[in-house]
Amino acid sequence: MPRRGFPPAYPLIHLSSQSRTRFSYVLAREVTMVELLPSILSADFAHLADQVAAAERGGGTVIHVDIMDGHFVPNITLGPPVVKSLRKATSLPLDCHLMIENPNDFIADLAEAGANWASVHYEACPHLHRTLQLIAHHGMKPGVVINPATRVEVLLEVLPMVHHVLIMSVNPGFGGQEFIPFSLKKLSRLAELRRELGLTFKIEVDGGVAHDTVAQVVQAGAELLVAGNAVFGGGHPEQDARALLAAAREAAGE
Ligand code: DX5
Ligand code: ZN
Repeated sequence: MPRRGFPPAYPLIHLSSQSRTRFSYVLAREVTMVELLPSILSADFAHLADQVAAAERGGGTVIHVDIMDGHFVPNITLGPPVVKSLRKATSLPLDCHLMIENPNDFIADLAEAGANWASVHYEACPHLHRTLQLIAHHGMKPGVVINPATRVEVLLEVLPMVHHVLIMSVNPGFGGQEFIPFSLKKLSRLAELRRELGLTFKIEVDGGVAHDTVAQVVQAGAELLVAGNAVFGGGHPEQDARALLAAAREAAGE
Protein backbone atom coordinates (compact mmCIF):
# COMPACT_ATOMS: atom_id res chain seq x y z
CA MET A 1 0.00 0.00 0.00
CA PRO A 2 1.58 3.35 -1.00
CA ARG A 3 2.18 5.73 1.90
CA ARG A 4 1.02 8.74 -0.04
CA GLY A 5 -1.32 9.49 -2.92
CA PHE A 6 -4.98 8.88 -3.45
CA PRO A 7 -6.64 5.52 -3.99
CA PRO A 8 -8.65 5.17 -7.21
CA ALA A 9 -11.82 4.28 -5.33
CA TYR A 10 -13.11 3.42 -1.89
CA PRO A 11 -15.25 0.30 -1.89
CA LEU A 12 -18.56 1.04 -0.25
CA ILE A 13 -20.88 -1.60 1.11
CA HIS A 14 -24.45 -1.14 -0.08
CA LEU A 15 -27.10 -2.88 2.01
CA SER A 16 -30.47 -3.67 0.47
CA SER A 17 -33.46 -2.41 2.45
CA GLN A 18 -34.25 -6.07 3.28
CA SER A 19 -30.78 -6.59 4.79
CA ARG A 20 -31.08 -3.39 6.78
CA THR A 21 -34.32 -4.61 8.31
CA ARG A 22 -32.87 -8.03 9.06
CA PHE A 23 -29.88 -6.56 10.91
CA SER A 24 -31.70 -3.70 12.58
CA TYR A 25 -31.77 -5.41 15.99
CA VAL A 26 -28.01 -5.92 15.98
CA LEU A 27 -27.39 -2.36 14.76
CA ALA A 28 -29.68 -0.85 17.39
CA ARG A 29 -27.75 -2.60 20.16
CA GLU A 30 -24.45 -1.50 18.73
CA VAL A 31 -25.38 2.16 18.53
CA THR A 32 -26.78 2.48 22.05
CA MET A 33 -23.57 1.62 23.94
CA VAL A 34 -22.01 4.78 25.30
CA GLU A 35 -18.23 5.13 25.45
CA LEU A 36 -16.02 7.71 27.12
CA LEU A 37 -13.22 9.25 25.04
CA PRO A 38 -10.88 11.19 27.35
CA SER A 39 -9.42 14.18 25.48
CA ILE A 40 -5.76 14.68 26.35
CA LEU A 41 -6.04 18.38 25.53
CA SER A 42 -6.70 19.04 29.22
CA ALA A 43 -4.14 16.49 30.50
CA ASP A 44 -0.75 17.24 32.03
CA PHE A 45 1.44 16.85 28.94
CA ALA A 46 4.54 16.22 31.07
CA HIS A 47 2.91 13.04 32.39
CA LEU A 48 0.87 11.97 29.41
CA ALA A 49 1.36 8.21 29.75
CA ASP A 50 0.27 8.25 33.41
CA GLN A 51 -2.70 10.48 32.66
CA VAL A 52 -3.90 8.24 29.83
CA ALA A 53 -3.47 5.14 32.01
CA ALA A 54 -5.55 6.75 34.77
CA ALA A 55 -8.31 7.71 32.34
CA GLU A 56 -8.31 4.15 31.02
CA ARG A 57 -8.66 2.72 34.53
CA GLY A 58 -11.61 5.06 34.96
CA GLY A 59 -13.37 3.51 31.95
CA GLY A 60 -12.11 5.46 28.94
CA THR A 61 -12.12 3.15 25.91
CA VAL A 62 -10.73 5.41 23.16
CA ILE A 63 -8.20 8.25 23.57
CA HIS A 64 -9.21 11.50 21.84
CA VAL A 65 -6.23 13.41 20.41
CA ASP A 66 -6.78 17.01 19.34
CA ILE A 67 -4.45 18.15 16.56
CA MET A 68 -4.48 21.93 15.99
CA ASP A 69 -2.43 24.03 13.62
CA GLY A 70 -2.93 27.66 14.70
CA HIS A 71 -4.67 28.39 11.37
CA PHE A 72 -7.94 26.48 11.19
CA VAL A 73 -8.25 27.07 14.93
CA PRO A 74 -6.49 29.68 17.06
CA ASN A 75 -4.35 27.21 19.00
CA ILE A 76 -1.46 24.79 18.44
CA THR A 77 -1.19 21.37 20.04
CA LEU A 78 0.66 18.35 18.74
CA GLY A 79 1.37 16.19 15.71
CA PRO A 80 2.49 12.73 14.58
CA PRO A 81 5.56 12.47 16.92
CA VAL A 82 3.34 12.75 20.01
CA VAL A 83 0.85 10.29 18.48
CA LYS A 84 3.77 7.89 18.02
CA SER A 85 4.72 8.23 21.71
CA LEU A 86 1.10 7.78 22.78
CA ARG A 87 0.92 4.64 20.66
CA LYS A 88 3.62 3.11 22.87
CA ALA A 89 1.86 4.22 26.04
CA THR A 90 -1.58 2.68 25.46
CA SER A 91 -3.27 -0.09 23.55
CA LEU A 92 -6.55 1.87 23.33
CA PRO A 93 -7.57 3.20 19.90
CA LEU A 94 -6.30 6.73 19.23
CA ASP A 95 -9.02 9.01 17.83
CA CYS A 96 -7.28 11.91 16.07
CA HIS A 97 -9.45 15.00 15.63
CA LEU A 98 -7.75 17.09 12.96
CA MET A 99 -8.35 20.81 13.36
CA ILE A 100 -5.96 21.75 10.60
CA GLU A 101 -6.22 23.43 7.20
CA ASN A 102 -4.45 20.79 5.13
CA PRO A 103 -5.33 17.41 6.62
CA ASN A 104 -4.38 15.47 3.47
CA ASP A 105 -0.72 16.29 4.10
CA PHE A 106 -0.69 14.57 7.50
CA ILE A 107 -2.87 11.48 7.06
CA ALA A 108 -0.09 9.11 5.99
CA ASP A 109 2.16 10.25 8.84
CA LEU A 110 -0.61 9.86 11.40
CA ALA A 111 -1.37 6.34 10.19
CA GLU A 112 2.32 5.52 10.35
CA ALA A 113 2.48 6.94 13.89
CA GLY A 114 -0.25 4.54 14.99
CA ALA A 115 -3.48 6.56 14.86
CA ASN A 116 -6.59 4.37 14.52
CA TRP A 117 -9.35 6.88 13.82
CA ALA A 118 -8.97 10.20 12.00
CA SER A 119 -11.67 12.81 11.66
CA VAL A 120 -11.57 15.91 9.49
CA HIS A 121 -13.66 19.05 9.51
CA TYR A 122 -16.22 19.58 6.76
CA GLU A 123 -15.24 23.26 6.95
CA ALA A 124 -11.56 22.49 6.23
CA CYS A 125 -12.00 20.05 3.33
CA PRO A 126 -12.98 21.33 -0.12
CA HIS A 127 -12.70 17.73 -1.38
CA LEU A 128 -14.14 15.97 1.64
CA HIS A 129 -15.04 12.73 -0.14
CA ARG A 130 -11.48 12.33 -1.39
CA THR A 131 -10.01 13.08 2.05
CA LEU A 132 -12.23 10.45 3.69
CA GLN A 133 -11.14 7.96 1.04
CA LEU A 134 -7.53 8.77 1.82
CA ILE A 135 -8.03 8.12 5.55
CA ALA A 136 -9.60 4.72 4.83
CA HIS A 137 -6.88 3.95 2.31
CA HIS A 138 -4.31 4.35 5.06
CA GLY A 139 -6.14 1.89 7.28
CA MET A 140 -7.76 4.35 9.70
CA LYS A 141 -11.46 4.71 10.51
CA PRO A 142 -12.69 7.85 8.73
CA GLY A 143 -14.72 10.42 10.61
CA VAL A 144 -16.20 13.78 9.70
CA VAL A 145 -16.66 16.76 12.04
CA ILE A 146 -18.95 19.78 11.87
CA ASN A 147 -18.66 23.06 13.74
CA PRO A 148 -21.59 24.45 15.74
CA ALA A 149 -22.66 26.76 12.88
CA THR A 150 -22.72 23.97 10.27
CA ARG A 151 -25.93 22.07 9.52
CA VAL A 152 -26.02 18.28 9.80
CA GLU A 153 -27.62 17.97 6.34
CA VAL A 154 -24.42 19.02 4.53
CA LEU A 155 -23.02 15.58 5.39
CA LEU A 156 -25.73 13.55 3.66
CA GLU A 157 -23.58 12.40 0.75
CA VAL A 158 -20.67 11.17 2.87
CA LEU A 159 -22.58 9.52 5.73
CA PRO A 160 -22.38 6.04 4.12
CA MET A 161 -18.57 6.15 4.08
CA VAL A 162 -17.77 7.31 7.62
CA HIS A 163 -17.16 5.34 10.80
CA HIS A 164 -18.16 8.27 13.01
CA VAL A 165 -19.63 11.76 12.80
CA LEU A 166 -18.42 14.28 15.35
CA ILE A 167 -20.75 17.09 16.34
CA MET A 168 -18.80 19.96 17.89
CA SER A 169 -20.71 21.35 20.84
CA VAL A 170 -18.23 24.21 21.29
CA ASN A 171 -16.27 26.16 18.71
CA PRO A 172 -13.07 24.14 18.31
CA GLY A 173 -9.72 25.33 19.63
CA PHE A 174 -9.82 25.14 23.40
CA GLY A 175 -10.83 22.89 26.26
CA GLY A 176 -13.08 23.90 29.12
CA GLN A 177 -15.62 25.91 27.11
CA GLU A 178 -19.32 26.06 27.76
CA PHE A 179 -21.59 23.57 25.99
CA ILE A 180 -23.70 25.12 23.20
CA PRO A 181 -27.30 23.97 23.84
CA PHE A 182 -28.51 23.87 20.20
CA SER A 183 -26.01 21.04 19.64
CA LEU A 184 -28.62 18.76 21.20
CA LYS A 185 -30.98 19.34 18.27
CA LYS A 186 -28.16 18.51 15.86
CA LEU A 187 -27.41 15.26 17.66
CA SER A 188 -31.08 14.25 17.50
CA ARG A 189 -31.29 15.16 13.83
CA LEU A 190 -28.21 13.08 13.06
CA ALA A 191 -29.59 10.09 14.96
CA GLU A 192 -32.83 10.45 13.01
CA LEU A 193 -30.96 10.56 9.69
CA ARG A 194 -29.00 7.46 10.66
CA ARG A 195 -32.23 5.57 11.33
CA GLU A 196 -33.85 6.81 8.12
CA LEU A 197 -30.85 5.83 6.02
CA GLY A 198 -30.22 2.51 7.80
CA LEU A 199 -26.59 3.40 8.47
CA THR A 200 -24.31 2.39 11.34
CA PHE A 201 -21.83 5.26 11.82
CA LYS A 202 -21.27 6.27 15.43
CA ILE A 203 -22.33 9.64 16.80
CA GLU A 204 -19.62 11.51 18.69
CA VAL A 205 -19.93 14.75 20.64
CA ASP A 206 -17.07 17.02 21.66
CA GLY A 207 -17.04 20.13 23.83
CA GLY A 208 -18.45 20.96 27.24
CA VAL A 209 -19.42 17.36 28.00
CA ALA A 210 -19.52 17.25 31.80
CA HIS A 211 -21.81 16.23 34.67
CA ASP A 212 -24.35 18.92 33.90
CA THR A 213 -24.65 18.08 30.18
CA VAL A 214 -23.85 14.38 29.79
CA ALA A 215 -27.38 13.06 30.34
CA GLN A 216 -28.80 15.41 27.72
CA VAL A 217 -26.21 14.55 25.06
CA VAL A 218 -26.73 10.84 25.60
CA GLN A 219 -30.51 11.21 25.41
CA ALA A 220 -30.14 13.24 22.21
CA GLY A 221 -28.28 10.32 20.58
CA ALA A 222 -24.56 10.69 21.26
CA GLU A 223 -22.70 7.49 22.07
CA LEU A 224 -19.04 8.52 21.80
CA LEU A 225 -18.53 11.10 24.51
CA VAL A 226 -15.37 13.21 24.33
CA ALA A 227 -14.44 14.88 27.60
CA GLY A 228 -11.31 16.86 28.39
CA ASN A 229 -11.81 19.20 31.29
CA ALA A 230 -14.34 16.94 33.02
CA VAL A 231 -11.79 14.09 33.07
CA PHE A 232 -8.42 15.82 33.48
CA GLY A 233 -9.25 19.30 34.76
CA GLY A 234 -9.76 18.37 38.41
CA GLY A 235 -6.51 16.42 38.86
CA HIS A 236 -8.24 13.05 39.47
CA PRO A 237 -8.69 11.56 36.01
CA GLU A 238 -9.49 8.01 37.13
CA GLN A 239 -12.25 8.97 39.56
CA ASP A 240 -13.61 11.73 37.36
CA ALA A 241 -13.73 9.51 34.26
CA ARG A 242 -15.50 6.78 36.24
CA ALA A 243 -18.12 9.17 37.61
CA LEU A 244 -18.81 10.76 34.22
CA LEU A 245 -19.15 7.40 32.51
CA ALA A 246 -21.50 6.17 35.24
CA ALA A 247 -23.73 9.22 34.71
CA ALA A 248 -23.68 8.63 30.94
CA ARG A 249 -24.61 4.96 31.30
CA GLU A 250 -27.41 5.80 33.66
CA ALA A 251 -28.80 8.31 31.16
CA ALA A 252 -28.52 5.68 28.41
CA GLY A 253 -30.33 3.12 30.55
CA GLU A 254 -27.34 0.74 30.38
C1 DX5 B 1 -11.83 21.43 21.46
C2 DX5 B 1 -11.45 19.99 21.36
C3 DX5 B 1 -11.98 19.12 22.43
C4 DX5 B 1 -11.65 19.52 23.82
C5 DX5 B 1 -12.92 19.39 24.60
O1 DX5 B 1 -11.57 22.05 20.27
O2 DX5 B 1 -11.85 19.43 20.13
O3 DX5 B 1 -11.68 17.75 22.21
O4 DX5 B 1 -10.66 18.75 24.44
O5 DX5 B 1 -12.68 19.87 25.84
P1 DX5 B 1 -13.77 19.96 26.98
O6 DX5 B 1 -14.28 18.56 27.21
O7 DX5 B 1 -12.98 20.49 28.11
O8 DX5 B 1 -14.84 20.89 26.51
ZN1 ZN C 1 -11.66 17.20 19.90
